[in-house]
Amino acid sequence: MARIGSDIQKSKKILAASGLVSIPTETVYGLAANAFDIAAVLKIFATKNRPTFDPLIVHAASLDKIESFTKNIPNKAFALAENFWPGPLTLLLERTSLIPDMVTSGLPKVAVRIPKHPLTLNLLSQLDFPLAAPSANPFGYISPTTAKHVNDQLGNKISYILDGGDCAIGIESTIIGFEGEDAIVYRLGGLSINAIEELIGTVQVVPHSTSQPQSPGQLKSHYAPKKKIVIGNIADMITQYKNEEIGILSFQKQYPKIAQANQIQLSSLEDINEAAKNLFTALRKLDALSVTIILAEFVPNIGLGLAINDRLKRASSK
Ligand code: TXA
Ligand code: MG
Repeated sequence: MARIGSDIQKSKKILAASGLVSIPTETVYGLAANAFDIAAVLKIFATKNRPTFDPLIVHAASLDKIESFTKNIPNKAFALAENFWPGPLTLLLERTSLIPDMVTSGLPKVAVRIPKHPLTLNLLSQLDFPLAAPSANPFGYISPTTAKHVNDQLGNKISYILDGGDCAIGIESTIIGFEGEDAIVYRLGGLSINAIEELIGTVQVVPHSTSQPQSPGQLKSHYAPKKKIVIGNIADMITQYKNEEIGILSFQKQYPKIAQANQIQLSSLEDINEAAKNLFTALRKLDALSVTIILAEFVPNIGLGLAINDRLKRASSK
């Protein structure tokens, strides 16, 4: 198993020697390597069992640093960066030759963000290279929101996990790209569409494609637990699936016919941000129970509800 701690010096040493460190962010834990170092970046793909056509997000501590390896940044990108960084927002920007092809799968744009987590910002500010970091889970599985989640799945493949506690937002960053000055949302995430549109006006949200995804976070079966998960009216489905061992993932309701231990409420107070924070832990818990099916429902389509429902849809479409 990996060592878990809050040692920034140790993290620096491992990263400078082309190694991997799992880092906390406000969204989910990342699996980080020196983004300028091809040998290190290759280890990310191998460790996650991730196909090399799925590009990585590059993390840095400041906009200045990001400007040192990107170019032709659109005005709207600057506005978004100034308002929402550090935070759960990833921007697709033209890259310079400092970013290896391996990081972007050969694409001309690189995904970049400044994460909002004190430990990781401290680490990034002490490095003279940015960190490429996808979510620290095996490819296609649910993203980790605690150091333990990372250790459970990748602990035998990496040496160190920087422990920053539970992720405050709990859902991956919102990804935005640009066609000229038009902003396009490629992945719904921890920054709500409302917040984005308040700043830069209406944005296009690209529907999920199943073939040739622009952003492989758009692959339909992403974020999938191993168990079958169906979404609908939970009360009706309890009748429909009466011959199965049922697990329940609800927004706030409890169902008397089903054992308490097999039910998880995302937010008893119907708080959408709390629901986002609890989502991936809840899916992991249900996946580990001895149930045969998980019955889930959509949460209200407000704020982070859109991103939660997007993850639920993908988790259910295996
Ligand atoms: O919140 C997050 O974004 C977390 C934390 C660790 O920062 N990272 C994360 O990374 O979710 P990952 O690799 O699991 O998801 C990143 C998504 C992928 O679906 C990838 O295809 C897309 O971003 N992406 C990365 N670079 C891209 C590019 N140049 N063009 C289009 N999509 C890109
Ligand atoms: Mg991921």
